Amino acid sequence: MQAELADKPNVIDPIALRGAFGTFVTGVTVITTRDAEGRPRGMTANSFTSVSLDPPLLLVCVGKSAASSPAFQASGHFAVNLLRAEQTHVSNLFASKSGDKFASVSHDTVHTGAPVLADCLTWFDCTVHDRVDAGDHMVLIGRVQAFGTSPSAPLGFCRGRYAEVKDPLPPGWLASHGMAAGYLVEAQGSVLLVKDGARGWVLPSAPRRLANGRLPISGGDELELLPDDTFLYSVFDIDGSDSGYLIYRARLAQPRAGDELPNLPHGFQFFPLDQLPYDDIASVEMRSMLRRYVRESSLGRFGIYMDSHDGGRVAMVSAAQPWARHP
Ligand SMILES: Cc1cc2nc3c(=O)[nH]c(=O)nc-3n(C[C@H](O)[C@H](O)[C@H](O)COP(=O)(O)O)c2cc1C
Repeated sequence: MQAELADKPNVIDPIALRGAFGTFVTGVTVITTRDAEGRPRGMTANSFTSVSLDPPLLLVCVGKSAASSPAFQASGHFAVNLLRAEQTHVSNLFASKSGDKFASVSHDTVHTGAPVLADCLTWFDCTVHDRVDAGDHMVLIGRVQAFGTSPSAPLGFCRGRYAEVKDPLPPGWLASHGMAAGYLVEAQGSVLLVKDGARGWVLPSAPRRLANGRLPISGGDELELLPDDTFLYSVFDIDGSDSGYLIYRARLAQPRAGDELPNLPHGFQFFPLDQLPYDDIASVEMRSMLRRYVRESSLGRFGIYMDSHDGGRVAMVSAAQPWARHP
C-alpha cells in the first residue's frame, strides 16, 4: 500500500490527496441556485452528505473558484438533484463551463425557488441553514424544505469515473412494495392502451422500469421506446387494488413522423389523444391521469404527480406546478 506521510500539513501532495479522496464511492448530484438576477446557476457536485434528520439537514462543498460559487454564497436557497444512471450527460454539462447549462435540461421551481431538475433520481429543495468556510471550499448546509425521490438506478462515481451500482433495486423490489410500472407510450399523437378483459382499457405494464427500452407485449413481441425520452410521470395507488403504479411517459422509437403506426397484437390499440375511451378506462385514477396527460400534452408541459399513501417515502412533488421544458 502506498502511504503519504507528512509532519507538516502543507507537505501533503494535493494531486495524490485528490486521488485518495476519489477512492470513496459516491453518487453524483447537480446543485442549483439562482444568482442576484434570478438566473438559474448550477454545478456538478459529489460532496453531498446527509447530516441530520431532526432538523432535516444536508451539506455540499462548493469550490470557491467555481463560477457559480458567488451565487451559492449569496442566495438563501439551493437544491440538490441526485442523478440517475442514465444522466452522465447532465453531470458532464454541469461540470463544464457552458454559458447556459439549463437550456437543454427540464427544470422548475417547487418550494424555495431553487431550480429542481425534472426526472432526476431524488431532489432536495433547501433553505440555507449555515455556511462554513473550509479552505478552498465553502461547506453549504441546507435545511430540507421539500424533497422527492424515484425508484431509478443512481449514477455512481469513483476514482474520477462514473460507476454503476449493481442491483440498485433488489430483485422484486417493485413487487414487494406493491408497485407495477406502467407505460404511457405516445406515437403520432396517439396513446397505446391494452384491453384488460375484466376491467376495460389499461396502460401497458412491465414488472419493473425497462433498462433496455423494450416494452414486452403479448406473444413475445416488443415495442422499442426512445431510451432518452422516458420520464417518470405519475406515482399512485389505485383504490381497492393491491398494487401501486409508477407511470413512465415514453415515445415509440418507430414509426417516425408520417409512417404508419405499427401492427399490434389483438387487445393492443393506439387511441388518438382526443378520442381516448375514458368511459372504459379501468380506474378513476388512470382516467384522471390520462386527462392530465392530454391537457399537458396540448400545452407541451408535463408535470410529475406523486401520491404519498405508502407512508411518506415519496414526500412531495408539486402536482399543480408542471415542469417547464426548456427551451
Ligand atoms: C463527478 C463530479 C463531482 C464534482 N464535485 C464537486 C464538488 O463537490 N464541489 C465542487 O466545488 N466542484 C465539484 N466538481 C467540479 C465542478 O462541477 C466544476 O468545477 C464546474 O465547472 C463548476 O461549474 P461553474 O464553474 O460553472 O460553477 C465535480 C465535478 C464532477 C465531474
